[in-house]
Amino acid sequence: PTGDVEAGEKAFKKCKSCHMIQDADGENIVKGGKTGPNLYGVVGRTAGTYEGFKYGKDLVAAGEGGLVWTEEEFVAYVSDPKAYMKARDGKSKMTFRLKKGAEDVYAYLASVGPA
Ligand code: HEM
Repeated sequence: PTGDVEAGEKAFKKCKSCHMIQDADGENIVKGGKTGPNLYGVVGRTAGTYEGFKYGKDLVAAGEGGLVWTEEEFVAYVSDPKAYMKARDGKSKMTFRLKKGAEDVYAYLASVGPA
């Protein structure tokens, strides 16, 4: 990852109203809301595949089409999910936009993830 882990940890405050980071043992790395999927392990994950979360159909279809959360895709998505999904002829259930620092959040998520 190219981003700054510490800056990403701070920026994640904007995400946790909707997203938790909870490891496979159920330990909370960040306690968060349930409007969005758990972001533990999202780095390198196929889009729309966190077990048990009710995604929009278009994000699921994108994952079935091969979309994986690389840094490039993650940054583009998080910066403007609506536009990102529209470019794929789809709709997004996430509308929040992180105007800058998505690469920092990616680096942070990579640092707390399983890999
Ligand atoms: C989905 C990141 C903020 C609601 C996602 C996904 C990522 C992501 C990577 C796709 C996950 C996957 O495919 O498993 C982030 C980051 C945020 C943020 C980094 C902060 C910078 C928010 C906020 C909300 C939200 C504030 C609620 C107001 C959602 C929802 C989805 C989602 C509902 C599912 C989208 C769908 O099914 O179309 N988010 N998110 N997110 N997020 Fe966020």
